[in-house]
Amino acid sequence: MKFFIDTANLSDIQEAYDLGVLDGVTTNPSLMAKEGIAGHDKVMAHYKAICNIVDDNVSAEVIATDFDGIIKEGKELAKIDDKIVVKVPMIKDGVKAIKYFTSEGIRTNCTLVFSSGQALLAAKAGASYVSPFIGRLDDVGSDGLQLIQDIVDIYDNYGYITEVLAASVRHTMHLIQCAEIGADVVTCPLNVITSLLNHPLTDKGLAQFLADHKKANG
Ligand code: G3P
Repeated sequence: MKFFIDTANLSDIQEAYDLGVLDGVTTNPSLMAKEGIAGHDKVMAHYKAICNIVDDNVSAEVIATDFDGIIKEGKELAKIDDKIVVKVPMIKDGVKAIKYFTSEGIRTNCTLVFSSGQALLAAKAGASYVSPFIGRLDDVGSDGLQLIQDIVDIYDNYGYITEVLAASVRHTMHLIQCAEIGADVVTCPLNVITSLLNHPLTDKGLAQFLADHKKANG
């Protein structure tokens, strides 16, 4: 399973990359705004800075919601770096744009997916990634992980190559359950990745090993 970090914060991206387990980055307009990145040139420069840290897979989201606007913005984003994946919302013109980008060899991430029907459309359009938002489904009393399972099953039935990218992953159990289900990718904040390190028996065992070593060696 690939690990993406869901942030536009450069130091978090660097820290996850330095851990040696990072496969990519997802951003969205809210995450860019959170970092205070505003204005066309600053946004483009920030995407380039992210690309300079990681090896591949930097999702950069379009703002336009009409076909021509999505194509114009997506082409511009794709020109920043070969690592860019154009993130397109699950709307009618978005699906058309994904089909177009696919024919042009531009990778896409179809975002704001909340149903298996939407995921099926994204795959038929040729999206490289589909992003179901599991935490936001849980927030409204739906089962986000069940959606991941349903999409994995549907894609397996037909051999779609679109990768299931579980987004809005809020905690380590989300991540682990996505791995059990067979999601291709999870994207989550840095703390969800680093929390995987933690186990009290690891801490206790290490303290014991070090104490025993000190006793024996002085
Ligand atoms: O990748 C989508 C993600 O940014 C949404 O996460 O926690 O805002 O629902 P969240």
